[in-house]
Amino acid sequence: MRYMGLIDRYRDLLPVNEKTPALTLHEGNTPLIRADRLSEELQLDLYFKFEGMNPTGSFKDRGMVMAVAKAMEEGSRTIMCASTGNTSAAAAAYAARGGLACVVLIPNGNIALGKLAQAYAYGATVLAIDGNFDQALDIVRDITSKHPITLVNSVNPYRLEGQKTAAFEIVDALGNAPDYLAIPVGNAGNISAYWKGFKEYREAGRSTSVPKMIGFQAAGASPLVAGKPFPNPETVATAIRIGNPASWDLAVAAHTESEGGVWAVTDEEILEAYRTIAAKEGVFAEPASAASIAGVMKRRREGALPAGSQVVCVLTGHGLKDPNIAIKTVAAEPVVIPATEDAVLAAIASAEAA
Ligand code: F0G
Repeated sequence: MRYMGLIDRYRDLLPVNEKTPALTLHEGNTPLIRADRLSEELQLDLYFKFEGMNPTGSFKDRGMVMAVAKAMEEGSRTIMCASTGNTSAAAAAYAARGGLACVVLIPNGNIALGKLAQAYAYGATVLAIDGNFDQALDIVRDITSKHPITLVNSVNPYRLEGQKTAAFEIVDALGNAPDYLAIPVGNAGNISAYWKGFKEYREAGRSTSVPKMIGFQAAGASPLVAGKPFPNPETVATAIRIGNPASWDLAVAAHTESEGGVWAVTDEEILEAYRTIAAKEGVFAEPASAASIAGVMKRRREGALPAGSQVVCVLTGHGLKDPNIAIKTVAAEPVVIPATEDAVLAAIASAEAA
């Protein structure tokens, strides 16, 4: 049967009815890729849930299709969000698809180029504030509480409803829940959504277990690890440059109920993992996504993850989202040579010798 998006696929477990429009960009149904080399190196049964394969290149499409479909059902004409980039790309795309207007507030200078390009391409009104994500979200919550504009950040409960379907897909692919679910944590909506999804699938009798939820924050933006907000979060992983997560309590419930936890990884560890999964597994995810694999590598080195565990790492966004970081950290300057076969062969020989 033709795949028609996640609302169609998981309708029985989503808050939809006959009045909910059949909005879709065929989001979801993303691959669960086994990390063969890293599994062997780390002695784990390791998989990537590659959410970069969604229509706008991140997991945000799952929540956004639900939030925008419900906004349309309720007769809304305009949606609004604060974003470190991916939410704004998804909001702009689904607003375009559904014929709504979209306003996005972003932290000036701290969003990856690909995400900014998407928001403009899909026709959103893009407003860059002289402040960070947390300040942008405060403004958006305030405005949407007073004006007939629908808030589509993950404090909108339909966002988590859509995002929980990724947990369903993992169970469908593996036959049951994995031992561990490793995930980057920013505003903390996604870890909360996965936990909801795993629990609901077990309640529905479609799995017999739930995973331990292990979340990872960038060290410079790790309020859940420190137990207090970070007024000035900083990290190379701009997607998770967040100091006061909106779903704080839900995230704490997810990792405590599941007997998991939340830990910090440094920018160096994130970039190392980012390069490793691209070079060793052929999977290119954005820096924030690599926080999950950086965390798994670190926990495994520390002996905190038992050998042989089945671990799913959520790779939340595509590597192409952030071309600047890629060029800065992965590529050297291209070697420019004359347009001759001899020059190419000489360059290959010197690369092999190096
Ligand atoms: N990974 C990526 C690539 C993200 O874009 C985000 C969040 C996260 C992880 C963290 O997810 O917030 O649910 O804990 N990005 C949001 C945005 C904040 O505006 O795009 P979370």
